[in-house]
Amino acid sequence: MLPGPVDVPDDVLLSMSKPIINHRGEDFHRLMKSIEDSSKQIFKTKGNVIVLSSSGTGGAESAIMNLLKPGDKAIVPVFGEFSGRLASQIETAKGKAVRVNAPFGTAPSVEAIESAAKENRDAKGIFLVYNDTSPGTTYRMAKELGEVAEKYGMFYVLDAISVFGGDELPMDEWKADVVIAGSQKCLFTPPGVALVGVSDRVVDFVRKNPPLSTYFNYASYVDYLAKYETPFTPALPIFYALETALSRISKEGIDKRVSKHRIAASAYYAAFEAMGLQPFVEEKFRSNVVISVKYPSGVDDLKFRSAMEKSYNTIITGGFGELKGKIFRIGNMGIIEKSRVMPTVAAVGFSLKELGYSADTDKAISIALDKLKGLE
Ligand SMILES: Cc1ncc(COP(=O)(O)O)c(C=O)c1O
Repeated sequence: MLPGPVDVPDDVLLSMSKPIINHRGEDFHRLMKSIEDSSKQIFKTKGNVIVLSSSGTGGAESAIMNLLKPGDKAIVPVFGEFSGRLASQIETAKGKAVRVNAPFGTAPSVEAIESAAKENRDAKGIFLVYNDTSPGTTYRMAKELGEVAEKYGMFYVLDAISVFGGDELPMDEWKADVVIAGSQKCLFTPPGVALVGVSDRVVDFVRKNPPLSTYFNYASYVDYLAKYETPFTPALPIFYALETALSRISKEGIDKRVSKHRIAASAYYAAFEAMGLQPFVEEKFRSNVVISVKYPSGVDDLKFRSAMEKSYNTIITGGFGELKGKIFRIGNMGIIEKSRVMPTVAAVGFSLKELGYSADTDKAISIALDKLKGLE
């Protein structure tokens, strides 16, 4: 039950055992077309969705390399480890990150970000981590921020690596120029590829301002995509897995998938509150895909997670950076079923009990079951 990588369904996993084929041949063209058709539907975009053979960080790097040159500014709301990392990643590429900070567990207001845009009209873009996986915070005003970016003529980039497929993100409607998704999270595919939705505006910009990167040049991915190919050798087994996962998602419907994540998240939060635990994040920013909960005083992080694993075969994670030892986090990503939520809720209650914290697990179970009625 990690916030990525997540368990992969058997049919997705088994599709990786297909032969390694010519990536310039017709079989690959069929595979890439299928990936592209499902992706556009799931991203809700008329733009292109390119698939990079890299983890999510490569996807984020691609946005930086294509949109920024050394010395260029970008506005970055920072409210967790991953948004802090994105700002540092921009600086490593010799860009200037204008950080708009908020304490972990909350998020900067749209007004604060807009005033940074007003003071830095030369910034090239707003780079938002839509779901910062470290505190478990989802930026709920992402749509409004798209309007701010448009108003100031900036590109709008969303690192949606950990949340894409698990919460709403209609790319075109929210005026996003780049949306980055990770394979190993809500798309229930093995790690190793990043899907990147790119607007036509970005591709035009890149053609006129070629990036200082060969591997991540968006224009070359879009040109190859026109013939259903990738410019460089793709990670074929993961492309097979991705095709299977995306076709499952598009058959089920992205809106349905999002609603399943939302229902299961509400069951977790309600159950933990019934146990007397406190979610780490302010209510309006709580993530549907990473459930983060404060430890009650006296409960040791390592002992708790070891009880979860040894006694209940359930692997969850702790906090990191400034949240180390203070919270535990459960991934609610990908396969969303009652048969996964309920044992996890029970394991949390029983493991806390093993460590001497008395949680009302019976009450938590009955509340969670009630909330899960909306799941098929
Ligand atoms: C929000 C966010 N951004 C970036 C990353 C880095 O992704 P990867 O480890 O796939 O490179 C992660 C990984 O968990 C993430 O959650």
